[in-house]
Amino acid sequence: MLAQNPRPTRRFTTLDDTPLEPPWPQLLAAAQAARSRAYAPYSRFAVGAALLDEQGRIHSGCNVENAAYPEGLCAEAVALGALVLAGGTRVTAVLVAADSPQPVTPCGGCRQKLREFAADSVPVWSAGAQGVTARHSLGELMPAGFGPGHLDAR
Ligand code: THU
Repeated sequence: MLAQNPRPTRRFTTLDDTPLEPPWPQLLAAAQAARSRAYAPYSRFAVGAALLDEQGRIHSGCNVENAAYPEGLCAEAVALGALVLAGGTRVTAVLVAADSPQPVTPCGGCRQKLREFAADSVPVWSAGAQGVTARHSLGELMPAGFGPGHLDAR
């Protein structure tokens, strides 16, 4: 029999009284709309992501799973593809929408993908059914991360 997944809980930074920077309402709407298109028949965990680019445009994505479970795409990765396809070069804000009680932050792989296009100071908002429930900077989520600058130093 398989060992039971212990599902450790983790305490996330919650929102303080700092007002959220605009255009978070538009990012929230875009992420929720994208989430409604998620293809997640295996996990049944629908996620939507919205990214703000350097021109103030919003790009969104949903998770797209497939029968070979590890090959599924996260919502953030799909949104990044849309941003690049539209000619975007930088990510200036991120919002991830799900409906779990705990705020959903990008997985490790997506933090790396975002880091390619985003500064450490970029806000990463997490939203549940009740709206935005957490705010982290990308640098908080991925301290001392590896990035393009490391390759420059060769
Ligand atoms: N997922 C995302 O799309 N983004 C996240 O930030 C967390 C996880 C997806 C991957 C998979 O399709 C499902 O959620 C369950 O892990």
